[in-house]
Amino acid sequence: MRIPFIAGNWKMFKTRAEAEAFALEFKELYQGTDVRTAICAPFTDLATLVKLFEGTDIGVGAQNVHFAEDGAYTGEISVRMLEDIGVDYCIVGHSERRQYFAETNETVNLKLKKLLEGSIRPIMCCGESLEQRDAGVLFDFVKEQLVEGLAGISADDMKKIVIAYEPIWAIGTGRTASPEQAEEMCAFIRQILIELYDEETADEVIIQYGGSVKPANATEIMNQDEIDGALVGGASLKAADFMQIIDF
Ligand code: 13P
Repeated sequence: MRIPFIAGNWKMFKTRAEAEAFALEFKELYQGTDVRTAICAPFTDLATLVKLFEGTDIGVGAQNVHFAEDGAYTGEISVRMLEDIGVDYCIVGHSERRQYFAETNETVNLKLKKLLEGSIRPIMCCGESLEQRDAGVLFDFVKEQLVEGLAGISADDMKKIVIAYEPIWAIGTGRTASPEQAEEMCAFIRQILIELYDEETADEVIIQYGGSVKPANATEIMNQDEIDGALVGGASLKAADFMQIIDF
């Protein structure tokens, strides 16, 4: 039985004061649900959110991490630093990091392995561009992201990884994948996990859809068999909207 998991990705939005205002409002609205939830925030907001969500079951996630234990890596943040703050999740390999910050399947793999040594659950992103979809290579591309990104990761560790399928053309564009398109790829991803691992492992992995998820389309997306959750960008910035999505 997979428990649905809906996470917000704030990207580079919200100062500490703005994060605090969100957290206070969200806590008021949040009555506890059957859905697991978390907010993945900028590094500077993490400590604020961990403190304000203490005693609730609302999780907190980072959006990136470095794969080294520590060292001379100016501007980077380690797994140990995130653990020290009390972070529950960390996004790895978001398409914006792949596009603007030279994230590759190889660095995704190193980051996943480093996170899996500790207690923070990775949310690994994958997804094709519009050109790849139009050229019909979407499945090959996502398969390569999974095979290379997950190389050398054990079945037990795989069960801790959340996969987020985020077609690049649906991110921040208002153009959501149809429920059928999202379901088709999420089913394909689970099939790849069966090939890489086994049925039991694949069956336990939470697969999210991300890309213009909003209150108006959350229900039909969440109703798909192979979609176990959502990674929500823009619509997670407003407490009321995010709450409506969780209440899909
Ligand atoms: P939007 O929901 O704003 O399209 O962003 C999706 C996303 O990138 C979540 O990680």
